[in-house]
Amino acid sequence: MHKILVTGGAGYIGSHTVVELINSGFEVVIVDNFSNSSPNSIDGIEAITGVRPKLYEADCSDATAMERLFSAEGNILGVIHFAALKAVGESVDKPLDYYRNNLLSTINMMQMLKEFGGKYMVFSSSCTVYGQPDVLPVTESTPRKPAMSPYGNTKRVGEDIIQDTVNSEKGIYAISLRYFNPIGAHPSALIGELPLGKPDNLVPFITQTAAGIREKLQIFGGDYDSPDGTAIRDYFHVVDLARAHVLALKRMIDGKCKGNYEVFNVGAGRGITVLEIVKTFERVTGVKINYEIVGRRAGDIEKVWADTTLAEKELGWSTESTLEESLLTAWNWERRLRKI
Ligand code: NAD
Ligand code: WQD
Repeated sequence: MHKILVTGGAGYIGSHTVVELINSGFEVVIVDNFSNSSPNSIDGIEAITGVRPKLYEADCSDATAMERLFSAEGNILGVIHFAALKAVGESVDKPLDYYRNNLLSTINMMQMLKEFGGKYMVFSSSCTVYGQPDVLPVTESTPRKPAMSPYGNTKRVGEDIIQDTVNSEKGIYAISLRYFNPIGAHPSALIGELPLGKPDNLVPFITQTAAGIREKLQIFGGDYDSPDGTAIRDYFHVVDLARAHVLALKRMIDGKCKGNYEVFNVGAGRGITVLEIVKTFERVTGVKINYEIVGRRAGDIEKVWADTTLAEKELGWSTESTLEESLLTAWNWERRLRKI
């Protein structure tokens, strides 16, 4: 059985990916420092799959701890590297925390693959590397733009660290997946997103408003160049995103890569406005959302969505869940959390 280390495997996307990996026959080892997650997600993974993955509570930016982990495990074939801090606004106030945590973790993972004979890396990158693109939809060859935040810069530089390392090290392969906007939760409602405090992201804010935890959703900007004036993003289901990681890993294991380093956009391939999200949520759940349209959020881009042709052609990946299903699973997860 292939042994895969999943960093940040207790987190939102990581936990869903661990489920898909286990269901695809991989042996999973998780490392997480629980800086933005809870050990409960490991219980959720076990409840869904019947398998409790081995867990190391450790910090990926700590090289000594990572050496201990790799040497204890012995035969880690590949790493799926989710562990990172991800709050864009916080990264502006605490840039050193973001650069230290995210970049040192990525450097350590590449170093460990090299030292311990691991071969494969799947990296959590982001559509943030495109900034506001000049042409839509964005393909993988759309130029990256200077990052608009220290967080965004850790994704851009993270990609470069990985690409430079595999270029210098012929036996290692890497794929960066540039995620657009993953939403929703596992259909079992046993794992999902767990924002600490006030959510930054749209869908958790909507579900918390629906649950009565937040009084009102503020929609940031009603004067964008879009059909209803609100900003456009490419929202898609987190379980679909999780499947993309398994396909990326299998592509490398099966020797199908074109070169040592590849990049794929992962999104639904269509743009949705904030108001469309709110209206769709109301329709599928039957719960009204109290909202107001306010000024634009600093640093927000107007619109972005993916061209996913490459992922379809090369990974054999496309979304399976609809927007309606994605929003319903997000709501079911919130209801389970809040016992509604
Ligand atoms: P998350 O915060 O739920 O998961 C990240 C996990 O990593 C958490 O469990 C956290 O405790 C852990 N972690 C952080 N730093 C660590 C460290 N130094 N050592 C060990 N564990 C550490 O976030 P997520 O939404 O699941 O995001 C996963 C990855 O995907 C991140 O790299 C993020 O930047 C990237 N990403 C997320 C989105 C999104 O919309 N959620 C979009 C694009 C990219
Ligand atoms: C979506 C839309 C908001 C909250 C962020 C990161 C990006 C990537 C994904 C990791 C925007 C609007 C939101 C609210 C609102 N993460 N909104 N009211 O901005 O696409 O991207 O997460 O790499 O790097 O920047 O996602 O969910 O924050 O916002 O009106 O309370 O919803 O203005 O138009 P975003 P988001």
